[in-house]
Amino acid sequence: MLFYGLIWLVAQALFSLAFGAVAHSLPPKAAMAACFESAARTYRIDPLLLIAIAEVESGMNPRAVGLNRRQGKVVSEDVGLMQINSSWFPFLKNKWGITREKLLNDPCQNIYVGAYILAKNISANGVNWESVGAYNAGFKNANAPFRMRYAKRVYARYLSFLDKERGDVFSRLSMLK
Ligand SMILES: *[C@@H]1O[C@H](CO)[C@@H](O)[C@H](O)[C@H]1NC(C)=O
Ligand SMILES: *[C@@H]1O[C@H](CO)[C@@H](O)[C@H](O)[C@H]1NC(C)=O
Repeated sequence: MLFYGLIWLVAQALFSLAFGAVAHSLPPKAAMAACFESAARTYRIDPLLLIAIAEVESGMNPRAVGLNRRQGKVVSEDVGLMQINSSWFPFLKNKWGITREKLLNDPCQNIYVGAYILAKNISANGVNWESVGAYNAGFKNANAPFRMRYAKRVYARYLSFLDKERGDVFSRLSMLK
């Protein structure tokens, strides 16, 4: 036991020597998949829906920063994988100590926050595509066209994921007695 413990310690030391200098290196893809799954489970959302949103929002880029302008002036920004709007920053800081930097450097945290916001939208308005649209455009009446446009993009992507999974579902039919 002790022996393996030592090997583990040496391995960790080598790892941090090799990678420790890289500031804020991103977690490997397998870890990201686990994040989508655990965030989705926590907030009772289909992980495929979260992934579809991440692709539409940021093209799956954890470092993405989108600037929102009004009359040429930057009024807010959307950061990271799930493009968390800066209007959330004060709340996130107060409630969980989550900073803008954290949202950009820790994609897993970013996914959890995105899932939390989507879950809030769903609990306010029900399980429907309007609620998904609100993730991008809020619930203001005037934004209804933007909600639908966004929801359609997410829906298209989500369906393409479902099509990929469908093969697995159909293959189970071979077990029919
Ligand atoms: C983003 O934040 C700005 C203010 O910081 C707000 O006016 C805007 O409605 C927010 N957008 C979304 C989609 O939450
Ligand atoms: C829905 O999501 C939007 C965009 O992220 C957010 O601005 C808004 O506050 C949310 N609405 C509710 C009721 O949670």
